[in-house]
Amino acid sequence: MAVNALTARDLSFGYPDGTAALDGLDLTIEAGERVAILGPNGAGKSTLLSLLAGLREPAGGEVSYFETGKSADDLRDRIAHCPQAPVDYLFNATVREDLEYGPAQLGIDRREAEERVDALAAEFALEGLLDKPPFRLSGGEQRRAALAAALSVEPDLLLLDEPVADVDAGHRETVLDALDRRTEAGMTLVVSTPDADLVPQVAHRVVVLDRAGSIVRDGPVRDVLTDGDLLRDVGVSPPQLVEAFQRAELDNPPLTVTDAVERLRDLDDC
Ligand SMILES: Nc1ncnc2c1ncn2[C@@H]1O[C@H](COP(=O)(O)OP(=O)(O)O)[C@@H](O)[C@H]1O
Ligand SMILES: [Mg+2]
Repeated sequence: MAVNALTARDLSFGYPDGTAALDGLDLTIEAGERVAILGPNGAGKSTLLSLLAGLREPAGGEVSYFETGKSADDLRDRIAHCPQAPVDYLFNATVREDLEYGPAQLGIDRREAEERVDALAAEFALEGLLDKPPFRLSGGEQRRAALAAALSVEPDLLLLDEPVADVDAGHRETVLDALDRRTEAGMTLVVSTPDADLVPQVAHRVVVLDRAGSIVRDGPVRDVLTDGDLLRDVGVSPPQLVEAFQRAELDNPPLTVTDAVERLRDLDDC
């Protein structure tokens, strides 16, 4: 039986100003799963990811990781979190130092750390940016740099908050391909997003949060994303392909452009 990468039980959190972000949330994710947390702005996605990353203390409930009984702090070599605002993750003088930071904290030797930085810089097209201060980078560049920094520890569990916000089309493929490679190698991925179109590209399971931070649906991507009424009810637009096929009263809507092309060709043949 697969090990659980994380188990959150009865998780609650409120901000000091009285905002109740999460109230009694339960979530179990198996090792190797690719899960999207989908919900409108303010649903509590970022709050949930920061709690799962151990960056905030829950008001109630608990999170356990890899069935180890250890805290997220004790598992810094296995868990990485990339926050919604990438600058929150980039606090060194240069991008290179940010990429070296994680491996240095884990005591990885300098030579191996340098190899990792070079490989990540090439993978995320950061070579020309390594000596720049992170705050001088564009939004999309910062996001790629923060993701590369998170991956520098080679985590088993990556918690990723809106991974392609601000990223242009070409680099979006770069990011998605990089995530595919990691998940194919066994990494567990949890991605938060308000964008249903992104979900089929990063996940096979989707957890939908409503505005009150409650889970209103948890299931396979196809089942959940073809339920347009449920998504609209929580304030999320259904994927554009689903919307188009449903409005045209065509059943079994495609979730990817490749599938859509195939369906349209089949229709053309009829
Ligand atoms: N530091 C904070 N202080 C007070 N309220 C906050 C703070 N951060 C977030 N919130 C509130 O908590 C709720 C959940 O926010 P967040 O987790 O950022 O949602 P999401 O990521 O789904 O857009 C929102 O109502 C937001 O306004
Ligand atoms: Mg957020």
